[in-house]
Amino acid sequence: MADIGELVNIGLLGCGTIGSGVYHLADKNARELTMAAGRPFRISRILVKQIDEPRTFPADRSLMTTDAAAVLQDPEINVFIELIGGIEPARTFALDVLGRGKHLVTANKELVARHGRELMEAAARSGSQVRFEASVGGGIPLIRPLEESLGGDRVEKIMGIVNGTTNYILTRMSDEGSTYAEALAEAQGLGYAEADPVADVEGADAASKLAILCSIAFNVGVTDAQVYREGINGVRPEDLENARELGYAVKLLAVAISEDDGISARVHPTMIPLEHPLASVSGNFNAIFITGESVGDLMFYGQGAGSLPTATAILGDVVNVVRNMDRPPASRRSYWSRPGNVKPIDEALTRFYVVLRVEDRPGVLAWIAGVFGENQVSLESVVQKGFGDSAQIVMITHQVMERNFQAARERLADLDVVLEIPSVIRVESG
Ligand SMILES: NC(=O)c1ccc[n+]([C@@H]2O[C@H](COP(=O)([O-])OP(=O)(O)OC[C@H]3O[C@@H](n4cnc5c(N)ncnc54)[C@H](OP(=O)(O)O)[C@@H]3O)[C@@H](O)[C@H]2O)c1
Repeated sequence: MADIGELVNIGLLGCGTIGSGVYHLADKNARELTMAAGRPFRISRILVKQIDEPRTFPADRSLMTTDAAAVLQDPEINVFIELIGGIEPARTFALDVLGRGKHLVTANKELVARHGRELMEAAARSGSQVRFEASVGGGIPLIRPLEESLGGDRVEKIMGIVNGTTNYILTRMSDEGSTYAEALAEAQGLGYAEADPVADVEGADAASKLAILCSIAFNVGVTDAQVYREGINGVRPEDLENARELGYAVKLLAVAISEDDGISARVHPTMIPLEHPLASVSGNFNAIFITGESVGDLMFYGQGAGSLPTATAILGDVVNVVRNMDRPPASRRSYWSRPGNVKPIDEALTRFYVVLRVEDRPGVLAWIAGVFGENQVSLESVVQKGFGDSAQIVMITHQVMERNFQAARERLADLDVVLEIPSVIRVESG
C-alpha cells in the first residue's frame, strides 16, 4: 500500500452496543475501508464509563480509558465517533472537538435533533465535518441520499417506519392478536425494547428522527420539539382487526409534508392501505418512503438498529470524512440556522378512523352524522358492529382539517347516546 496516505487516528467515544460493533468492523474490514477512504485509519483511543463492562464485541482494553480529556485532547486524533448517546456529556464532548477543528461522526439522534443547529454552526466556524448517517434508520442510507443523490430534486413528502420496537409490537398485535402489554413484554424479552421503553412507544425516538429528516430534506432547522407525536399504547387489538377488514395496516408512521404555508411533521399510529409498500414492513425492520417532485416515489428498507448494521453506517461516514479531510467541507449546512416553519397539528389535513360505542336505539346514527356535518367532517364509510344494549360504530372520514375533527370529537363525547370513543387513528391514503 505504498501509495496510500498517512494513517488517520480515530477517537471512539463510547464502546457499547454500537461502539463495540464499530471497533469490530473497523478491524475486520480494515482493507476495504482503507480502499474506500483512500488512506488507512484506526481507532487509537476508546472512552468508556467503566472499563470492565461486558462488550457486545471484544475491543482492545489497552486503548480504553475513563479519562475524557485524555481522549478529547489527544493531538494525534483527527476524527471522533460519538456513541455515548443522550444529550450530556455527548453535547459537551461534540462541541469541544468541533471547536478544535476535529471532525465528528455520531449516531446520536437526540443530540442532532435537539442541538443540530449548534453542532452545524460550531462545525462551520472551525471548518470541520459533522456526519450522522446512523442517527436515522440505523444501517439504511438516508442522510447522504437525501443530501446528495436527491440534491437536484424537491422532496415533497416523507413517510417512514423509523422505530423498530414499535413496529415489532404492532406486527405481533396484528399477526398474533396479542395485547399491547403482551407484545411489549415479548419485545423486551427479545432485547428489541429497552427496559424503559417510553422513548420508543411514546414516539419520542421517531420524532427525533423525523426532525433530522425534515432538516435535511427541506433545508431548514427542525427540532424534535416541533414534531407532533402520539404513541402506540392506545392501539387495541380490535383496531388492528378492524383495520385489516377495511383494507389497512396500522403502523407508527413519521410523516413530513412540505406545503406552501409550512411543514407538516407528525408521528402517530396510522392506518395505511394494505397495498402500500410500508404496510408489509414487519417485525423490527424500518422503511422510509420518500416522494420527490421529479424522482417520484422511492423506498429505503433495512435494519433500522442493531450493532453491525448501525456500525456499517458509521464507518461509511468515517470513510466520507477521511476522503474529504484535506478539502473544505462540501456542505456547511448553514440552512440549519434558519428555523423551519412547522405548522401546528390543528392544521394537519388527514382522514380519521374513529370507533364510537353508542346506545343501540333509533336515531343515534342521525345525531352522530349531524355533529360531524356541523363541523365540516364528511364520512367515507360507516360500519355498525355488535348489537344489543350498546353498539360499536366504526367510521372513516374523508380528508378533514384536524381542528374540525377534534371539535366534532369533543361534541360527540358530550352526547348522552355516545358511551365511549375508544379509538381514533389517522388514516393515510398513501
Ligand atoms: N442500539 C442501536 O441499535 C442504535 C441504533 C442507531 C443509533 N444508536 C445510537 O447510538 C448511540 C449509542 O447507542 P448504544 O446502543 O451503543 O448505547 P450503549 O450500549 O448504552 O453504549 C453507550 C457507551 O457510552 C459509554 N458512556 C456512557 N456514558 C458515558 C460517559 N459519561 N462517559 C464516557 N462514556 C460513557 C458507555 O460506557 P460503558 O460501556 O463503560 O458503560 C458505553 O460504552 C446512541 O446515540 C443511540 O441512540 C443506537
